[in-house]
Amino acid sequence: MRTPFIAGNWKMHKTVNEAEAFLKELLNKDLPSGVDAAICAPFIHLDRLVKGTNESIGIGAENGHFEDQGAFTGEVSIDSLSDLGVDYVIIGHSERREMFNETDEDVNKKVLKALEKDVIPIVCCGETLEERENNTYTEKITTQIEAAFKGVSESDAKKVVVAYEPIWAIGTGKSATSEDANLMCQLVRETIEKLFNKDVSEAVRIQYGGSVKPENVKEYMSEPHIDGALVGGASLEVESFVSLLEGAKNE
Ligand code: 13P
Repeated sequence: MRTPFIAGNWKMHKTVNEAEAFLKELLNKDLPSGVDAAICAPFIHLDRLVKGTNESIGIGAENGHFEDQGAFTGEVSIDSLSDLGVDYVIIGHSERREMFNETDEDVNKKVLKALEKDVIPIVCCGETLEERENNTYTEKITTQIEAAFKGVSESDAKKVVVAYEPIWAIGTGKSATSEDANLMCQLVRETIEKLFNKDVSEAVRIQYGGSVKPENVKEYMSEPHIDGALVGGASLEVESFVSLLEGAKNE
């Protein structure tokens, strides 16, 4: 009953012109129905992508600031993303948490702002290799989820997308097994159920992210708690992105 959702996270790849050419080529393909798709791209790409797309491909930002305006040099507000017509915003990606010191509190403020401005948040959570090995990883995930959803209303919570991305599997080619990814997505769902109720937890879409490719996407999608994927490297080529969408179709 949850529509599968594949989102590409381009990170700091492609120029604006390359992004536009990608989208044009993608929109000329025969895209599968019944799968939601989005491309999340750097800020300066978004205007052209939003103008160039149609309802088959959503456009997302990779970050956004929770303040509507102010003296925050180099930042872009979620308010202005919303004004531009951006559909999604990735919040709390591990690269932002680790390299740009984003805290659980920042993530929560961004989630609340995105929901207020009708931009769907794709909230990332995930543990480091060290946390996996010293067995603190379940605690890490529940803490991140509890913090992200603080103060979110029941009706808004249903709109949120969560991406479980173990840090040790990002860009490493070392993907989590589908069983393990499913267990972690189940943990996310159970945490949301405790915070709200089953109605909410059954509505939230949970993606797995970390070295997802056309060759393994079907396996992840066959798991009951995995509703889609947040994909870095394999989202950068049109053919590969289309294959990911094909692989995510409900069978
Ligand atoms: P890769 O698919 O390149 O491992 O990246 C995953 C990711 O970080 C998506 O947000």
